[in-house]
Amino acid sequence: MSDFQLQPRIVFGPQALAELHNLPSRNALLVTDKAMVKFGLAERITGPWQQRGVTFSVWDDVVADPDIATVVRGMKVMDAQQPDLVVALGGGSVIDAAKAVIYSLAQTRPQPHAARPHFVAIPTTSGTGSEVTAFSVVKAHEEKLVLVDAFMLPDIAILDPSLVASVPQSITADTGMDVLCHALEAYVSRQASDFTDALAEKVVQLVFSWLPTCWRQGSNLQAREKMHNASCIAGMAFTNASLGITHSLAHALGGVFHVPHGRANALLMADVVAWNADLNGSCSTQAAEKYAHLAQLLGLPAATPREGVTSLLVAIQTLKAEMAMPRGISECGIAATDFNVRLDEMVNQALRDACTPTNPRQPDASALAGLYRQAWAGHHDDTTQGHK
Ligand SMILES: NC(=O)c1ccc[n+]([C@@H]2O[C@H](COP(=O)([O-])OP(=O)(O)OC[C@H]3O[C@@H](n4cnc5c(N)ncnc54)[C@H](O)[C@@H]3O)[C@@H](O)[C@H]2O)c1
Ligand SMILES: [Zn+2]
Repeated sequence: MSDFQLQPRIVFGPQALAELHNLPSRNALLVTDKAMVKFGLAERITGPWQQRGVTFSVWDDVVADPDIATVVRGMKVMDAQQPDLVVALGGGSVIDAAKAVIYSLAQTRPQPHAARPHFVAIPTTSGTGSEVTAFSVVKAHEEKLVLVDAFMLPDIAILDPSLVASVPQSITADTGMDVLCHALEAYVSRQASDFTDALAEKVVQLVFSWLPTCWRQGSNLQAREKMHNASCIAGMAFTNASLGITHSLAHALGGVFHVPHGRANALLMADVVAWNADLNGSCSTQAAEKYAHLAQLLGLPAATPREGVTSLLVAIQTLKAEMAMPRGISECGIAATDFNVRLDEMVNQALRDACTPTNPRQPDASALAGLYRQAWAGHHDDTTQGHK
């Protein structure tokens, strides 16, 4: 038996933000970060609240890749205020922090569900899909822990493309590759279904069609809207199908070396696709067939699974190159000695990551170490061209 869950309600498109101001509240809390205040995005929430006489406060203390200390600070703020409405405005870091705060505070009450405020998530990056997922990633020391609980699902997600127009080029590239990675990992996951496959296929097409335009021309609101929708649709796919070891490896790399989440995925993704497909071997895995089907949908050569997987790998590398992304971890300012010293620790974190069990091929420690080493060098051209 399988299941597919649909929540929250999604309001999307130009002017979608106006929906927030149809929601009743007497006592609202805006969870956000300093960049949202600086870019004037927080004001787009609080201005209308002021006009309507809503009592509110702003907690703008969320840091990128939130840690347990951030969650504890948020619990104190929320406990003191007891809001009836919580609005999370920001990237995945802000939305995840709000989720973890709501969840953790409710667990301290005798009736957690009764203690849950109405929760609206408004993403300002097109990346994590956190606005529709039951996941929250919280850092404990140097390890990213993935909390999974439907209790954290927002009640409403608002996708307004005008909120992502200010995302700088490098974050557009990182977060856009995160979207692609969510779709690829959900598509070959052990929990993939017809429902999640339909979503993942659409996402892959949207990303290859629109991400380069978003990167070149950040103010193109049509391209921004397409990527914003793709991000959310990918979230719907992976909250149901879960993810795979690109994410496990990326969580550990991000936790230990502070590589932004999407960039970490972009660095590891091609090697994981090749490994899942068994490109060095028979290339007859179910994952290989599914990757080849994606290549076909993209109009790329895919007469055999091997040709399809190779085409998809080339397309991924081309997309990264178009956005001037680093090819290998070695290009991310990490010293080789530091990387080698921390390798075992990262491998162990990745092995116990919540995303590992649903990967189509089960890795052991040496397979994961091998994937890190390949991604360190970033010689993907050799990988793709050597196995045609
Ligand atoms: N919950 C999930 O399902 C899920 C899935 C994948 C990743 N994650 C987690 O989400 C986090 C990453 O989230 P992210 O990739 O959205 O990045 P982020 O939220 O960390 O934001 C990255 C940077 O972009 C800035 N920013 C955000 N919106 C902006 C805008 N409109 N204009 C200008 N700057 C803006 C932020 O202030 C921040 O400095 C990681 O901790 C990752 O592990 C969660
Ligand atoms: Zn991700």
